[in-house]
Parts: sequence; C-alpha cells; structure tokens
Amino acid sequence: MLEKIRETAAYIMKATARRPETAIILGTGLGRLADEIEERQEIAYKDIPHFPVSTVEGHSGKLIFGKLGGKEIMAMQGRFHYYEGYSMKEVTYPVRVMRELGIKTLFVSNASGGTNPDFEIGDLMIITDHINLFPEHPLRGKNIDYGPRFPDMSEAYSKDLIARAKAIAAELGITVREGVYLGTQGPTFETPSEYRMFHRLGADAVGMSTVPEVIVANHCGIKVFGISIVTDLGVDGKIVEVTHEEVQKAADAAQPKMTAIMRELIRRA
Ligand code: HPA
Repeated sequence: MLEKIRETAAYIMKATARRPETAIILGTGLGRLADEIEERQEIAYKDIPHFPVSTVEGHSGKLIFGKLGGKEIMAMQGRFHYYEGYSMKEVTYPVRVMRELGIKTLFVSNASGGTNPDFEIGDLMIITDHINLFPEHPLRGKNIDYGPRFPDMSEAYSKDLIARAKAIAAELGITVREGVYLGTQGPTFETPSEYRMFHRLGADAVGMSTVPEVIVANHCGIKVFGISIVTDLGVDGKIVEVTHEEVQKAADAAQPKMTAIMRELIRRA
C-alpha cells in the first residue's frame, strides 16, 4: 500500500514542479471553484499510476495544480464515492497521496440533504463535525504509520479554520449555517423516516461522501475545512422527490458563495 502511494506521489512530483501545501476536493456540482485556478496544470486521473478513475456524472476526473487566492494549491476535480463500488482504501487513496506530496490543509465541499428544520435549499453549512455511518471504516486493516492506530477525532474539522471562515462570511455578507454532516453510503437518497432518524442522531445534513477522506486526512495530520451545500431538504413536511439533476442544479446555484469563502480562506491561510 505505502509503496503504491509513494509511486503515485513520485509520478505526480515528476509531472509537475508545483509543491502546494493546500488541497481541495470538489463535490457534486461544485467544480467551478476549479475554473478560477490560475497558472494551471492538469493531470488526468487516468494517467496517474494506481489512481482510481472517477465515473459519476458531474465529475470530470483530474488533478489541477495552480494558484487560487494567490496560493499554490492542488484540486481534485471529481472524487471517488463508496457507492460507485470503490473500496474505502480507494476512496481515500488520494488523501494519502496528498500526505506524501506535503499537503498540510484540505478543503472539502459536498452537496447534502438538510435534516435541520431551520435549513433552506441553497444554504451553505460549515461542517463543524461529522457522524460516520459508512459500513466500512477507511482505517480498517494494518495501520499505515502516517498516524496512530487509534486516531483522535476530537477536532476533525479545524476550529481555527471554522472561526476564520465565519469571519470571512460575515465580512462578505454571506449567510452561513454550521452543523454536523452525517456520511452514509447511498446511493439511495433517504426515506422520510431515515432523514428523521439521522436528524435525531444529531445530523444537520446528510450526504454520501467526505467522511472517509476527512478521517484519513486526520490520521495523516492534515487539517480539514469543509462546506456542505444543502441541495434538498429531509425535513418533515418539506420532503419532495430528489434527483441527481436537482442536486447538481442547487449546488451550482450556491457555488459562487462557497467559492468566495474558500478563495478568501485560502488567500489568508
Ligand atoms: N441525501 C444523501 N446525499 C445527498 C442528499 C441527500 O438528501 N442530497 C445531496 N446528497
């Protein structure tokens, strides 16, 4: 495993002279932040040894190196979801490669269903914590000594970055929510009873990604900041049919606000 990760990292370091310390993983319908990356250099996933290849609609599958907010960054356009059939090792493989590349901070975005009755479609939720309900743990198996066997998760999302993001949102006049993201395997959206259960469990929003990558990032000592875009509501009385197209549309509409916060946070980091 470690040997493969190092081969992948070596390939990337040969393909580009860029050495960013910040990485971004863009979620469904949220690829536009990547369009703002300047002096860009792209590497298609399919050309990278041992890298999984992304299949789901709305994800184009490449690493983008360049500048955002004046800082060197790398962005993953397209992530690997457990529901696509990838193992948890594959889903989180890129994060381990990031660790080898010297990444110190990871920014993640995703689309989610809001279970908090105060939420509206299009809301931005700063992720303050998560609940892992994936059926397989990404750190199951032999421990890679990037981190301890039993990693601490008391601050999975950096409090410092959350505070700074809130200040930036206030300055820019962007309303943000805060809350707990619950990660589940999908690919079904939730039944009304499941949304209700997840809310009772402490979730403000539910989605099918992010949690595995964030766990592995924490294990590797990479700091995390995450924003979720509420693209539909799993709230009693407000539940309507959900489609992937609607999720993408709602995410797309909320993108500029998310992009503004992320860009500014990266600029000041
Ligand atoms: N449930 C799970 N995943 C999602 C949802 C949802 O309602 N919306 C966007 N991703």
